[in-house]
Amino acid sequence: MRKSIKITVLVDDQAKPGLVAEHGLSLWIETPEKRILFDTGQGTALPANAAALGIDLVRTDAVVISHGHYDHTGGILHVLRSAPDVKMYYHLEAKRIRYSMKQGTAKAIHMNTQTILAIRDLLEQQKIWVHKPVWITPDVGLTGTIPRRPPFEDTGGPFFLDEHGIHADPLSDDIALWLHTPAGLIICTGCCHAGLVNTINYIRVINQDAPVHAIIGGFHLLNASPERLQQTITALQSLGPAQIIPLHCTGENAKKALQEHFPGHYLAAAAGTRVRFSTAGR
Ligand SMILES: [Fe+2]
Ligand SMILES: [Fe+2]
Repeated sequence: MRKSIKITVLVDDQAKPGLVAEHGLSLWIETPEKRILFDTGQGTALPANAAALGIDLVRTDAVVISHGHYDHTGGILHVLRSAPDVKMYYHLEAKRIRYSMKQGTAKAIHMNTQTILAIRDLLEQQKIWVHKPVWITPDVGLTGTIPRRPPFEDTGGPFFLDEHGIHADPLSDDIALWLHTPAGLIICTGCCHAGLVNTINYIRVINQDAPVHAIIGGFHLLNASPERLQQTITALQSLGPAQIIPLHCTGENAKKALQEHFPGHYLAAAAGTRVRFSTAGR
């Protein structure tokens, strides 16, 4: 039995040589008990990078959908073809029709119809709705809807439920994953639309204020104001994680600031990055 947790970045906006880069996210998480695919990218990079990295998606036990955006759900059909008996963890609202608005133009950013139908057709025991905290194993949990708390995190954005930009999308399907290790929590985020500090705080509430060992994923700070970025850094400094691994929608400014403030703890990552965490001591 493996005595460690291994996380491989399968899809990211940046990629190591020989791998496909794509705006999106997918993490392959191997624990002593389960193999979990956290998000699936847009669909092109996932099969190519999994093959190049020697990861056989047939072995997937569980797929977690962090939220319903196309850049996290586009590879679901591929995974279901590879592993048809997989368990699918998602929030019901991940299947919502939704748009982003840029300069008055709406762009559809929801899960594609084929994927929605494929999920609908899964056996009931394969579908696990994650509205509230749910545990995949005793050491791996999912948040469900994350209450929006810190006033400094403006978690809005150009996200709407209609093409006219009238009804704001609350993105209540945005969920995050945590893994327990003896060193503390490893937190995996998709786009982090609920706010990075908000998400971490909520996970700590669920886990009796356990220390945070590592944070990996999209932090969605690309449009963060300097004030929000500074307050995020201050909050992270008080948590003192050993590893900060920003990906996907974190934004170059935020990555640079995190690198400056957390020397020795910041890991520059891309598709192809593998990190290992010890579970010894349990
Ligand atoms: Fe995203
Ligand atoms: Fe997103």
